[in-house]
Amino acid sequence: MALLKIENVTKQYQAQGQQVSALSGVSLQLNPGQFFALVGRSGCGKSTLLNLAGAMDFPSSGQVSIDNQITSNLDDAGLTALRRTKVGFIFQNFQLLPTLSVAENVELPLLLAGSPKPRQRAIETLTWVELGDYANRMPHQLSGGQMQRVAIARALVHEPKLLLADEPIGNLDTITGNLILDLLRRAATDFQTAILMATHSADSTRVTDQTIEMRDGLIV
Ligand SMILES: Nc1ncnc2c1ncn2[C@@H]1O[C@H](COP(=O)(O)OP(=O)(O)O)[C@@H](O)[C@H]1O
Ligand SMILES: [Mg+2]
Repeated sequence: MALLKIENVTKQYQAQGQQVSALSGVSLQLNPGQFFALVGRSGCGKSTLLNLAGAMDFPSSGQVSIDNQITSNLDDAGLTALRRTKVGFIFQNFQLLPTLSVAENVELPLLLAGSPKPRQRAIETLTWVELGDYANRMPHQLSGGQMQRVAIARALVHEPKLLLADEPIGNLDTITGNLILDLLRRAATDFQTAILMATHSADSTRVTDQTIEMRDGLIV
């Protein structure tokens, strides 16, 4: 049973009176535990597709369903609940909050969702990314690879069924990037998280189940 279903999706943006076609009819399905890479040149539509897949934005036509919920049919409360319970997101530039400690960054999604024992769960997840001893550090006291591991802990702390990763190793050296890829593979295998990752790295085929190539808003 597919966890993420993208069906014949198009997306047009308006920019300075011009219509930009970012996606021109894309379909894909991702099952629990599957880890897919999305590759293709800058501007081919990878980030647009990830935003639709995470219910951060909506298709111009076609539909996206996450765990059998069609994103464009949900009201604001339904969307917030869907994002907070089912989806995790990681980015190239980590997007940690600089004034919060590592533990505070990781527990934030749980506080927003009103979950019980957020600190305990945050420490457990930090331990899973092998940063249990770094809970009280500030983000600026970490290396890039450590920052991305904190971001992964934050994305997984609420045990989402779907993890979306937009060029998560784009700012990291090869060795560190490979450690992050291994960690994502482990999330897919250990927790049955479905992962869709945009990447430029040819190394990703080592850890992913499938590579999807995009060109000009289409899967090729
Ligand atoms: N908010 C936006 N407004 C207008 N055009 C956009 C917007 N976001 C993306 N685009 C355009 O959509 C296309 C796909 O962009 P994007 O999904 O970011 O590609 P990628 O992540 O593969 O580099 C590009 O032509 C880009 O300029
Ligand atoms: Mg992008």
